[in-house]
Amino acid sequence: MKTSSTLNAEETQEVFEEKKIGFTSQNILRSVGKGISKYYVPFSLWDNPLSALYNLDCVEGMKYYSDNYFDLAIVDPEYGIDAANMTMGRGKNKKYSKKDWDKKPPDKKYFDELFRVSKNQIIWGGNYFTDKLPTSRGRIYWDKILNKDVSFADGELAWTSFDKVIKTAKIQYNGFLGADAERIHPTQKPEKLYNWILKHYAEKGQRILDTHVGSGSSRISCFKNGFDFVGFEIDREYCKDSDIRFINAIAQLSLF
Ligand SMILES: C[S@@+](CC[C@H](N)C(=O)[O-])C[C@H]1O[C@@H](n2cnc3c(N)ncnc32)[C@H](O)[C@@H]1O
Repeated sequence: MKTSSTLNAEETQEVFEEKKIGFTSQNILRSVGKGISKYYVPFSLWDNPLSALYNLDCVEGMKYYSDNYFDLAIVDPEYGIDAANMTMGRGKNKKYSKKDWDKKPPDKKYFDELFRVSKNQIIWGGNYFTDKLPTSRGRIYWDKILNKDVSFADGELAWTSFDKVIKTAKIQYNGFLGADAERIHPTQKPEKLYNWILKHYAEKGQRILDTHVGSGSSRISCFKNGFDFVGFEIDREYCKDSDIRFINAIAQLSLF
């Protein structure tokens, strides 16, 4: 087998497929292209950016990529605060099944791999793992524009590797249960937040990595904005749901 440093994106996918260690929507998109799927996507899929999602532990997955393969990693790992089981995330109506992925933050191995495979990083929840991140100036504050009566935090912080001033993204949080029928994940971030990040921190033609895809908002945003994207999600249920969400979002595009 070739080593990861000699593989391009397509070959990396072939390795994954050969080893049956993940799945990718590229396969689904191929089916869509051949018309065997119920989804109708009339424009040429091959002119679109690569968009691969692997149902895989990201530390395993990153091993297949060479140093600095990704221009920008936009990641939202587990913070270690049990968000998947909080009322805000999960809701009294048990909309989301109980999951234990947010019991502890990622370890050093994760950050070593992340910094190896990507040139720049935006890490949501960076305030929860300051001991594992180098000193840097750039931060993003996501102002959720909440109704002032709520007791939840007004926003979230991301650590960035960029030597830039602190920036505020004012994007309405749509996470209260019932507020957004589109929600499929307890800690789903809005697609608009990723659009904002790409606009301010990415350049045309760059390759984006998301190690913790969750609902797939990052993936949809990257596709719509023309960025190649590779993502990992360890939970099979989230992975499938976000893949369906992605395909539906693309099908919507073709309607206009
Ligand atoms: C904070 S959520 C990400 C939410 C995402 N930003 C969104 O907008 O929906 C973290 C996700 O990482 C997944 N996860 C946890 N450990 C992982 C690992 N080692 N590799 C890949 N995914 C992992 C969890 O299943 C969860 O869906």
